[in-house]
Amino acid sequence: MSMTANTPPVETTNTTTTQPADTSTDRRARPLVTVRDLKVRYTDDAPLVLDGVNLDLYPGETVALLGSSGSGKSTLMKALTGFAPVTSGDVNAAGYDVTQLRQKQLRELRSQVGQVFQQFNLIGRLSVITNVLTGGLHNAGPSNWFGSFRSADRKRALALLERVGIADKANAEARTLSGGQQQRVAIARALMQNPRVILADEPVASLDPRMSKSVLELLRSIAHDEGIPVLISLHVLPLALEHSDRIIGLRHGEIIVSGPTPALDAEQLAGVYALEDEEDE
Ligand SMILES: Nc1ncnc2c1ncn2[C@@H]1O[C@H](COP(=O)(O)OP(=O)(O)O)[C@@H](O)[C@H]1O
Ligand SMILES: [Mg+2]
Repeated sequence: MSMTANTPPVETTNTTTTQPADTSTDRRARPLVTVRDLKVRYTDDAPLVLDGVNLDLYPGETVALLGSSGSGKSTLMKALTGFAPVTSGDVNAAGYDVTQLRQKQLRELRSQVGQVFQQFNLIGRLSVITNVLTGGLHNAGPSNWFGSFRSADRKRALALLERVGIADKANAEARTLSGGQQQRVAIARALMQNPRVILADEPVASLDPRMSKSVLELLRSIAHDEGIPVLISLHVLPLALEHSDRIIGLRHGEIIVSGPTPALDAEQLAGVYALEDEEDE
């Protein structure tokens, strides 16, 4: 049976009609991302890393991509911005047919997709606000590099730092911040792009539990407030259950479970972590 990330739940014993818990998710709107029967292999003789993946991301929703190490989470995210070799299938993101793009359009697409990574990827010696401003460089000429950002941009960067709760750190060197604070800077930098979609690849894997929680809450509130989809890869089940509207469980490159988070429980998601996976971790 092929399973679409969007198909309503997995069986549940609850017989009442399931309402999505988060009404901010506008399913009448068109999805910002659609993936159909995506297959990816990195080299000709290597096995498929993604095998028939379907995915839709709607405005305003926070979707957890759950899977153990090597299940294909990063590859799926990379495929959305043209960084993974698509063997077959369709990938559409922010209105772009990703498999058909030339370099210029690829750059356009990437400028519209905000990305957040496990290691934050800030420039440590630069100030926090300068790091945020670099998020807007997609839309500016290279002459705006360092120091000569427009004051309107600086204003906006400051407002975004306020949005993520660290405006008081604007002039600090990025490397002096804690991990949780650095991830907030990275989120502000992504927002500086005016993204139509946010992809967060293991954004809390380097953070302690308290910071993980606050960063995931921030991402979800951004999805909700900005009305954009946020896809967050996670390998920790309780975090996915607590901080998403929908969960997609990936195992060996296949979606094996998918549904609204309130309709899923740890038992239904257990298959994502079958024993054989644990052996090689
Ligand atoms: N650039 C690459 N070249 C070859 N194999 C890769 C590459 N990137 C990832 N893989 C392989 O693809 C599989 C899925 O990896 P990945 O998408 O990184 O999974 P996850 O993010 O869930 O840990 C793994 O077996 C990994 O070794
Ligand atoms: Mg990964």
